[in-house]
Amino acid sequence: MNCLETFKQRKSIRAFTKQVPPRQLILECLEAASWAPNPTSQQPWHFIVLSGNSLRKAAELIKESYSDAADKTAPQLTENSENSRNLEQRKKENFSEMLGFLKKHNADMASLGEGNFNFHRAPLAIIFATYPYKDQNYFKSTVSAMQTFMLAATAHGLGTCWANAVSVCQDAIKKELGLQDELILVDGISVGYPDLDAPINNVSRHRLSIEQVVSWLE
Ligand SMILES: Cc1cc2nc3c(=O)[nH]c(=O)nc-3n(C[C@H](O)[C@H](O)[C@H](O)COP(=O)(O)O)c2cc1C
Repeated sequence: MNCLETFKQRKSIRAFTKQVPPRQLILECLEAASWAPNPTSQQPWHFIVLSGNSLRKAAELIKESYSDAADKTAPQLTENSENSRNLEQRKKENFSEMLGFLKKHNADMASLGEGNFNFHRAPLAIIFATYPYKDQNYFKSTVSAMQTFMLAATAHGLGTCWANAVSVCQDAIKKELGLQDELILVDGISVGYPDLDAPINNVSRHRLSIEQVVSWLE
């Protein structure tokens, strides 16, 4: 697949088949991720693949701890700026379009909501972790590795979805899975083979025109 096509073909997959991707394929995608840019090639990341019991355990923990943890980490809006109003407005529009589409296709809304806690029932999930550092460069490069991983996975016919609940519930997850306390869990990515017919995987996607998001300064 041409890599420019892959960029647009990657989309958030929220329904998976039960087929477990082979370990070698996941390692190949993670190896691709490790070529992401990072400060002085320190490769300040650690990739934790969850399958079977560890995946179930993480999902249970997220379900239990999400609401308390989210209250603690909720972002504080400092100003009611035009930018934040525009962003909120786009969120509302996208969300209501998605809900309309899913209702029309009789999707099971409750289980879709649960998906944010159970990795959308994917057969695998990967936690992308980094280390504390005086600036955010370790964090930034790990996000870059996440995107590279998702593109590699797409090129191999796998589906992925970002899982924000991992960073929100990271204290509980680190404790339960016996991960080093020092790690920062940037987030998780659910991985598996996409259920191509599921309505949730066929929601329309939009992007702003490129002119709306570019300022070209001379
Ligand atoms: C930081 C971040 C957090 C996200 N968290 C979640 C999440 O918890 N659950 C989910 O289903 N999708 C999550 N997403 C996926 C976005 O909803 C998705 O990327 C967006 O709607 C655009 O759709 P697309 O990925 O199909 O282009 C997250 C994406 C990012 C970048």
